[in-house]
Amino acid sequence: MDMDKKTVHGEWSSRFAFILAATGSAVGLGNIWKFPYITGENGGGAFVLVYLISVLVIGIPLMMAESMLGRRARQSPIGAMRLLTKEANADESWHYLGWMGVLAGMLILSYYSVIAGWSMAYVFKAFFGSFSGAEARDIKELFDNFTGSPLTLIFWHTLFMSITMWLVAQGIQNGLEKAVRVLMPGLFVLLMLLVGYAMTTGAYEQGLSFLFKPDFSKITGDAILIAMGHAFFTLSLGMGAIMVYGAYLPKNVSIARTSLLVVAADTVVALLAGIAIFPIVFANHLEPSSGPGLIFQTLPIAFGNMTGGWFAGVLFFVMLVFAALTSAISLIEPAVAWLIESRTMDRKVACIWTGLSVWVLGLGSVFSFNIWSNVKVFDKTFFQLLDYLTANLMLPIGGFCIAIFAGWVMVQKDAEAELALANPLYYQIWLILVRYVAHAGIFLVFLHVVGVL
Ligand code: PFF
Repeated sequence: MDMDKKTVHGEWSSRFAFILAATGSAVGLGNIWKFPYITGENGGGAFVLVYLISVLVIGIPLMMAESMLGRRARQSPIGAMRLLTKEANADESWHYLGWMGVLAGMLILSYYSVIAGWSMAYVFKAFFGSFSGAEARDIKELFDNFTGSPLTLIFWHTLFMSITMWLVAQGIQNGLEKAVRVLMPGLFVLLMLLVGYAMTTGAYEQGLSFLFKPDFSKITGDAILIAMGHAFFTLSLGMGAIMVYGAYLPKNVSIARTSLLVVAADTVVALLAGIAIFPIVFANHLEPSSGPGLIFQTLPIAFGNMTGGWFAGVLFFVMLVFAALTSAISLIEPAVAWLIESRTMDRKVACIWTGLSVWVLGLGSVFSFNIWSNVKVFDKTFFQLLDYLTANLMLPIGGFCIAIFAGWVMVQKDAEAELALANPLYYQIWLILVRYVAHAGIFLVFLHVVGVL
């Protein structure tokens, strides 16, 4: 089979550009908004430990597998799975995996955009001094009034979706590389500043021990699944986002090294966010388990009460919006790339169609925080249901199937050549991880779904 497939979408200018884009995809609301609040809801330390182990034994090998499959096929996940299945003489139905990824990306983006909209609104709240001198109670009231208004949330959701689709319509490379280059160091500096503030709250140690002292009595089957699911979510794995970025990766780049860097950056950002947030939670007698509003109810207290807080607050929410944008782009790119390839649709038209569908679906999440907050299925709101379905089921199942494909179905000689690891031993370790950990993981998800765990 021809080894030098060409991509119709363009290519990254360098290894560094891919690292930036993949990090841009990985680092987002998942690290700063979601990680702290689900850690709070699931009891802290033990949950964080399961998450870190999942990142290490599932996240790294799978990040390598997805990049490798993408680079080999040089197409959207659906096209890639079709082609690689043919190469391996395997059953055709593998390409449904690509479909599930495209669908998962659109479903995730629908609620991701709503939360990113909150972050945009908070840029303005910070700018107009809404946090200055405010106490925990005021900040909570501000948040409740804000999320209670469907029209306001729809406005911000619409704005975020429009910017995302406009950026995707420009094609890869333009802008994305530059944005991430500034964003990553900036975000890091601001998080360090917030950690500095957390140290002055008097509850720093309490926050740290909540995060890092595992109390295994607090861990449930559901918590394990959520922690594992989050490893996929935060690293953008299991739905083809990294695969589609891998498709634009030049041939001579080391997949192992780039994957390690991306995973490390992502994990550091999440931990820093946790270290900054929990001391503020405890110092202000807030509930760690207060849900998706957690960062919006804690960080403004810090900005409202620290020196230079106005500036830091505006900058922080601007960076959060950028971090969300670079992830949002990768959530929708598999769908757009597929529409372009298979329907030979123009990139702009593909953007309009996918963007509109995602926008409509997002209204369900908007209403979950106000007029539909009491409408529940399986005890979950529309937003919670979508989040559970995608992050805890679709991404892990998709990811484990990708692992099985890379570890068992694909012609191993091809996988080894594409990964081009420096030492054959590394290849063996990778192979064992994708082969066996994936099975164990699927089994775990299955046990959970049938109610045993
Ligand atoms: N990794 C992103 C975050 O942590 O915010 C979310 C995400 C992006 C998930 C792309 C999945 C994906 F394919």
